[in-house]
Amino acid sequence: MFRTAVKTLSLASSTFISRAVLGSRHYCKKIPTKLRVSEAVSGLNVGANIKVQGWVRSVRAQKKNLFLHLNDGSSLQSLQIIATSELNNPLLTFGSAVEVTGVLKESPNQRQQVELEAEQISVVGECNPVDFPFKIKERHGLDYIRQFPHLRPRTNASSSLLRIRSQATAAIHSYFKENGFAQIHTPIITSNDCEGAGELFEVAPPYSENEEDKYFFSAPAYLTVSGQLHLEVMSGAFSRVYTFGPTFRAENSQSRRHLAEFYMVEAEISFTESLEDLTKVMEDMFRSATEDVLTHCAQDVALFHKHVAPGHRDTVDRMLKTQFPVITYNEAIDILNRSNQKFDFPTEWGCDLQTEHEKYLVKHCGDVPVFVTDYPYDLKPFYARDNHDHPKHTAAAVDLLVPGVGELCGGSLREERLDLLRTRLQEVGLDDTYSWYLDLRRFGSVPHGGFGLGFERYLQCILGIDNIKDAIPFPRFSHSCLL
Ligand code: 4AD
Repeated sequence: MFRTAVKTLSLASSTFISRAVLGSRHYCKKIPTKLRVSEAVSGLNVGANIKVQGWVRSVRAQKKNLFLHLNDGSSLQSLQIIATSELNNPLLTFGSAVEVTGVLKESPNQRQQVELEAEQISVVGECNPVDFPFKIKERHGLDYIRQFPHLRPRTNASSSLLRIRSQATAAIHSYFKENGFAQIHTPIITSNDCEGAGELFEVAPPYSENEEDKYFFSAPAYLTVSGQLHLEVMSGAFSRVYTFGPTFRAENSQSRRHLAEFYMVEAEISFTESLEDLTKVMEDMFRSATEDVLTHCAQDVALFHKHVAPGHRDTVDRMLKTQFPVITYNEAIDILNRSNQKFDFPTEWGCDLQTEHEKYLVKHCGDVPVFVTDYPYDLKPFYARDNHDHPKHTAAAVDLLVPGVGELCGGSLREERLDLLRTRLQEVGLDDTYSWYLDLRRFGSVPHGGFGLGFERYLQCILGIDNIKDAIPFPRFSHSCLL
């Protein structure tokens, strides 16, 4: 079976060039098939004459032989290259970029299935190992490699994260596609502030003396803090929509779970009947994306669960096995007040849940994701649906709290009743600004709701990454915008 596959592949990969006609004879030169490292290490091309390109991850010269490991970002596994010492070259150093041609052979060493017997090695880009900040055979910590955002993708941890991030992005899009959601490209520049709160970055051209030039858009404009209101526009015509893009918050925070630019997955669903319609999508999406990542990026995930957060795989398995519990905010406050733990922040009814509270609640519920529903009405933005309860007045809002991170998702049913929404907007002085939003309730309003999931926090949660800055390629946070 293996032999047949090899034969077919090597036959299929034989390409002929330079058909020079010399007298009656044809001279054919076989050019090597260009493979990515992930294809080469798969074992399917044994016997083939191949060319690979990538960066040297290790180099070991013996008396007669030279051993290299080559990586091109296509997989965590590098390709072992074996060459005679004549092919050695002082420029063949850790970190250099090279191109190698040769024959792919089964490896006698059990650590790898195949190795490339090199016939030719050329150095495409030199790398001085003394100046290069990463050292051969050293496992650098995430804190160290974070100092070199322009070079850190050359490390195993960073390249694994980027492959996982790419796979998780695709998995989330697949989940929504398979479940009938239309993707909406919500704007990055917006004239609304969504939450009615601060934390906005204003978008403005360079300062001008001319009053007319003050506002490029003839009105103040901001970087979006959430695509929710634009999704709500769409949910007046599409019953299921989502968006997945960058969002911005001018939070003056250096915390390990806040960024100034982060990616948010947001969904909005029309004709909802209860918060359960939202929690089901949040939980299903979490499960489906996580299972997909565990299947397609097994080696990359294993690196995190071995070297970054030992033992975290058990937490992930537990999260996937358990149905996420649901507690109300009232129950959460009772749990906190009954606990023996001393909290820094107050825990009386009406207070916002802080990270220390969220962590305690997650542990209390078995160290699995937990939904907290029905928050005090006054804690939530103007669009949250009024539960009309008394004396503890709540809104139909829900947060998903997860192990190690705290809040992963925030969502709510939206106030679809025109008179109630108008009164609320008047109370907060936003009725003029949001007259278009009131129109959505005047023309064919339906019960609806949605949520947002912080994508970097999701990666922190499944990989056990302590600092959110290690879950995004180019972190932006207060006082830091490198590259
Ligand atoms: O809870 P938030 O603020 O919800 C909203 O923005 C809603 N308008 C979303 C909606 O209903 N469509 O943010 C949603 C999630 C949070 O739960 C958190 O995971 C993440 O976004 N998040 C951040 N992630 C990184 N850095 C920050 N500064 C974040 N702020 C929020």
